[in-house]
Amino acid sequence: MERKWWKEGCVYQIYPRSFYDFNGDGIGDLKGITQKLEYVKELGASIIWLNPCYKSPNDDNGYDISNYREIMDDFGTMEDFDELLNKAHSLGLKVIMDLVVNHTSDEHEWFIKSSSSKDNDKSDWYIWRDKKNNWGACFGGSAWEYCEKRDQYYLHSFSKKQPDLNWENPEVREAVYSLMNFWGDKGIDGFRMDVITMISKDQNFPDGVINGEYGDASPFTNNGPRIHEFLKEMNQKSISHYDWLTVGEGAGARVEDTLSYTAPENNELNMIFSFEHMNYAKPQCENNWKEEKFALPGYKKIYKKWQEGLDQKGWNTLYLENHDQVRSVSRYGNTSNEYMWKKSAKALAVMYYLMQGTPYIYMGQELGCTNTNFNSIEEFRDIAAKNDYAVMLSRGFSKEDALRLLNLTSRDNSRTPFAWNKDGGFTTSTPWIRYNQDIKEINVEREKKDPDSILNFYKKLISLRRSSDTLIYGSFKLLEEDDEDLFIYERTLDNEKYTIIVNMSDNTRCYPVKGQVVLSNYDDSKDEIRSWEAKVIKED
Ligand code: GLC
Ligand code: CA
Repeated sequence: MERKWWKEGCVYQIYPRSFYDFNGDGIGDLKGITQKLEYVKELGASIIWLNPCYKSPNDDNGYDISNYREIMDDFGTMEDFDELLNKAHSLGLKVIMDLVVNHTSDEHEWFIKSSSSKDNDKSDWYIWRDKKNNWGACFGGSAWEYCEKRDQYYLHSFSKKQPDLNWENPEVREAVYSLMNFWGDKGIDGFRMDVITMISKDQNFPDGVINGEYGDASPFTNNGPRIHEFLKEMNQKSISHYDWLTVGEGAGARVEDTLSYTAPENNELNMIFSFEHMNYAKPQCENNWKEEKFALPGYKKIYKKWQEGLDQKGWNTLYLENHDQVRSVSRYGNTSNEYMWKKSAKALAVMYYLMQGTPYIYMGQELGCTNTNFNSIEEFRDIAAKNDYAVMLSRGFSKEDALRLLNLTSRDNSRTPFAWNKDGGFTTSTPWIRYNQDIKEINVEREKKDPDSILNFYKKLISLRRSSDTLIYGSFKLLEEDDEDLFIYERTLDNEKYTIIVNMSDNTRCYPVKGQVVLSNYDDSKDEIRSWEAKVIKED
């Protein structure tokens, strides 16, 4: 398998709004990130992914961009960005940006022009129709919004302030490649591409199957007819000019699609964030509330399928958290007391981090951050949370139930300010969103001092993977597929073999250990695999 820096590195994801507030206005900023880069370096990560920091009215926290070549006022200036990039590079850290080009903000000059009349040089840059179909938007309501000046509707897959660009128009595509090259020429190291698998729409715009009030657009927007053509063109006109990491957010991407996206000979992307493992038994309040029971064998099968499916032919991403997901230790682990919280956060880390693929850590995951107890709807900031709440109330949920379900599912769970010390230490004023209730116990200062902390465990795990070609490039084999407690897999390269054993339950189990334990979250190593025990064994 070809060696690549982006296969070997560890990506640390920073949500700029919530990492560190340098100028004390309650909002994280670029200068704040620059000041804290040593923290990322010490952790052992080698690549930083920044969520969008371009000019934006912040309807969806920066995923609604009004100027791709300027920095959001809240976050600072282009000089601040250059300083961040320079310092990161001098520390040996790479920086990838978020590319949001399925849609822009409705305040982008392209849309202002496009929506002003039916006849202007940008009139065909967005998706305009005389009649709307039944598609629903991902953030609730219809996916179409009426515009009086054109007496037409425009498509918005997300909020109505996020109109979808018309990728059928070659001028739109050229404009995107040009802005990518602008950042490439600045020296960034790649892009995470927001909902990139949605850019090619079925041009017949057929109605979708009704799901709640609206039709499901996803069969006609995800992995659409011209997607591979567009990505090949993007590769040729931009990506191939640079030594980049490219990772596409793969809404609806199956293994087969991902093989096409990531096979090196196809010249599209390096890797895809797939969702199948995240969506497994996921509590959802978008349409009708549903909660399935989590069962380990089903969960493991998903990993097996992706690991085997892409081995030697494509490349995987490994992640448990990001800015759209709840905290993994709250979702999968045991947070009933400090002891189990620590064990289970470390076990989850070992479970996902040592498979084949590029590992991603979302800020705070390395501290074992938990979900936040939001006490009222006023404490939420996310547009999706507010919409979900309104939808639930309209469907007859009580306020208490709606709040409880939102606490389990909201993206704001992972967007609360990063805790640098027991008082938070994120800002000197009031943060834009409340702190998590657990900052006294879960913060950088405390975990740095504790040799047994989750943070220090992550450091060992990151350095272990970095030191081993087998853990990076080796093949993956799932063992004990039907076991309901244990997640066990092997990584093999040439004559070297590692076995990763993780107990994903409170039960004590037995599993014979053959070889040397190179990492564990329990002190002594016996054949017993205790509650949430994780062991990495090197066969000798
Ligand atoms: C992606 C982003 C999410 C955003 C959405 C619309 O899913 O990760 O945060 O709301 O796209 O841009
Ligand atoms: Ca600030």
